[in-house]
Amino acid sequence: MRWANDPEIRHLFRPFASKQQAQRPATLVNTATKLAAALEAGRLWYLIELDGVLVGEVNLVMDPPYLHDRQGKTAWFGVVIGEAQARGQGLGKAAMRHIEEVAREHGALWGQIGVFEFNAPARALYENLGYREIARIPEATWWKGKRWTDIRMQKSLQAR
Ligand SMILES: CC(C)(COP(=O)(O)OP(=O)(O)OC[C@H]1O[C@@H](n2cnc3c(N)ncnc32)[C@H](O)[C@@H]1OP(=O)(O)O)[C@@H](O)C(=O)NCCC(=O)NCCS
Repeated sequence: MRWANDPEIRHLFRPFASKQQAQRPATLVNTATKLAAALEAGRLWYLIELDGVLVGEVNLVMDPPYLHDRQGKTAWFGVVIGEAQARGQGLGKAAMRHIEEVAREHGALWGQIGVFEFNAPARALYENLGYREIARIPEATWWKGKRWTDIRMQKSLQAR
């Protein structure tokens, strides 16, 4: 909830359908409800600690219905380094490498992510890890007075 309500990052990892939705704070009830639904749908969630402090999370779900152009068993990833002081130290990259390994253990052939066009650090992270753009979904989220594109990126998990 803390990260979902942080005005510096909340728009980076949650899509907003409208200005109203973008302004609505995450509450304990809707956060817990979404988390329960995600876990029930089989999402695997890992919490990231730095020196004993919770600083982020990384998760995967296998073959969700919103994948773009599924070519075979595909893991969909999400990553958030929520605490500002923990960013830029290699945690995001290490977390993605870890979740890719988990996906391989579950038989995934592909890894796919979605990243909003304005999120330069995340786009650089995924490119750095070998993800390539496969599609653009226009008007996928609302932020700062307009709608923005969601970029879908994918990588083969068969080669390390
Ligand atoms: C995107 C995010 C996960 C990156 O995690 P991080 O721990 O800060 O990144 P790392 O230190 O592991 O950096 C890995 C690579 O990411 C890229 N990167 C990270 N921060 C960057 C920045 N501020 N500007 C440009 N590239 C950046 C670089 O390619 C970097 O590789 P390099 O160190 O070899 O240059 C993190 O910034 C974050 O959680 N942001 C808020 C939520 C979010 O955007 N989640 C992703 C939604 S799609």
